[in-house]
Amino acid sequence: MAKTQSFTCSACGASHTRWSGRCDACGEWNTIIQEAPLSAGPAKKSLGGKRGQSITLSDLSTEETPPPRTLCGVEELDRVLGGGLVPASALLVGGDPGIGKSTLLLQAAARFARNGIKTIYVSGEEASAQVRMRARRLGLEESPVQLAAETNLRDILTTLEAEKPGLAIIDSIQTMWADNVDSAPGSVSQVRAAAHELTTFAKRHGVSIIMVGHVTKEGQIAGPRVVEHMVDTVLYFEGERGHQFRILRAVKNRFGPADEIGVFEMTGKGLAQVTNPSALFLSERGTPSPGSAVFAGIEGTRPVLVELQALVAPSPHSQPRRTVVGWDSGRLAMILAVLEARCGIPFAGLDVYLNVAGGLKVSEPAADLAVAAALLSAREDTALPADTVVFGEISLSGALRPAPQTENRLKEAQKLGFTAAIAPAGGKTGTVAGLTLTRPSDLVGFVGETFGAG
Ligand code: TYD
Ligand code: MG
Repeated sequence: MAKTQSFTCSACGASHTRWSGRCDACGEWNTIIQEAPLSAGPAKKSLGGKRGQSITLSDLSTEETPPPRTLCGVEELDRVLGGGLVPASALLVGGDPGIGKSTLLLQAAARFARNGIKTIYVSGEEASAQVRMRARRLGLEESPVQLAAETNLRDILTTLEAEKPGLAIIDSIQTMWADNVDSAPGSVSQVRAAAHELTTFAKRHGVSIIMVGHVTKEGQIAGPRVVEHMVDTVLYFEGERGHQFRILRAVKNRFGPADEIGVFEMTGKGLAQVTNPSALFLSERGTPSPGSAVFAGIEGTRPVLVELQALVAPSPHSQPRRTVVGWDSGRLAMILAVLEARCGIPFAGLDVYLNVAGGLKVSEPAADLAVAAALLSAREDTALPADTVVFGEISLSGALRPAPQTENRLKEAQKLGFTAAIAPAGGKTGTVAGLTLTRPSDLVGFVGETFGAG
C-alpha cells in the first residue's frame, strides 16, 4: 500500500513528495515540513456502509425556510458577513498575531449575546480570567457571553453539544488538539482535523462557529490558508503596525459578496467602527503635492476614496527599484511599460515607489489611471489639479476602459467635497451635480490634457 505524501506546506497546505526550501504552490520559504504519514490501512470494500439519505430539491421548499440571519449591530461587521451571521455556518477569521482578532471577536460575541444568541467564547490561548480582564477593558464585563479555556477538541465539542449555543468562537484553531491525530497542536494535520470536526459539528448541530487563525511565518505552525476551503466564509483582519486602522476583508463568502470590507479603528477601549472610510483615508492628505492622486475606488459594495502616493527619483542602482505597498507590483510594471511604449515617457534609470495611504490594499484594475496620474505627477514634479479624483482601467494598447459603478464613485467624490473627476469615456455614466467630468479617450489624451505634454 503506497503511503500518502508526507511533506506539507504549512502556509498553504500543498502536498509535496519531497522536502524543498521553497513551496512551489505559494512561494513561501521554509514552510515545508514532514508530517507523520497517514497510513492508508487495508482497502475497504467500496460498498456495505451505512445508507445515507437523499431528498429531492423541491421537497426542501416552503416548510424548511432557513432561520434568519442575525445582525450584531456593528454595521461594518454585519456587512462583511454579507448581511449578518448565517445560522450553522463555519467562519474563519485570519490575521497576523496581535492585529486585534481576539478583541474583535470578543466584542462581536458580546453583541451577538446581547441580541439573544447564546454565545460561547472558547480560548485556547488565554485563561478565562485573562479574557475577563480584556472584557473589562472593553467595557463588556456584564455581557452574557460564556467563557471557556480549553484546547481539547473532544471536550469542546462535548460542551457545545450540552450547552447548545447559537454561536461558538474558537480562539485559535492552532491551539486546538484532536486526540485522534498523532501530531503536535498547530501542525497541518491537527489544524485540518480540528477545522474539519468543527465545521461538520456546525452543520449538524446548527451552531455557527467562528475560528480564529493566526497568519504565521513559522514553518512548524500551520497557517489559516490550510483550512480556507473547508469553511463557508473566510475573513482576514488586516492592518499595519503603527496605524490605527484595521480592515476586515471577506476573501470568500458562500452567503454574500467577497471583497467586502469593514473598517475599524483600534482605540484604548477596543475596536470602533469607521462608517466613513473615505474621510479617514484622506484625512492625512495635506495641500496637493506632486506624486499624489486620489483614486475613487469600490471595495465590495461601497465606494471608498483613497490617496495614492508616488515617488520617482534618479536611481543610483544599475537595476532601478520598483517598490509597491498596497497594490500589485506586476500591475505597476505594466503601467510603466504602457507609459513608455504608448506615450514615450521612459522610467528607465528612475527608482519608482508607490504607496496606498492608510494601509488599504487596492486590487481593482480601475486604479490604473490613478496610478499613472500619481507616477506622472511625481515624474514631472507637478501637482494634479486640486479636488480631483481619478479612475479607469488602462489596457496594453494605451486605450482606457470605463470602470464599473462610475456613478457611485462620482457621488462619493462629490459627497467628500471633490469638484472634478477624470474618468474614461464610454459605459454608463450619470453626471453628478457639482462635479466637472473630464473624459479622456486614451492614455495619450489623458497625459496631454493633464500634464500638457505627450
Ligand atoms: P488582540 O486582539 O489580542 O490580537 P490577536 O488576537 O489578533 O493576536 O490585540 C492585541 C493588540 O491590541 C495589543 O497590541 C493591544 C491592542 N489593544 C488595544 O489597543 N486596545 C484594546 O482595547 C485592546 C483590548 C487591545
Ligand atoms: Mg488573540
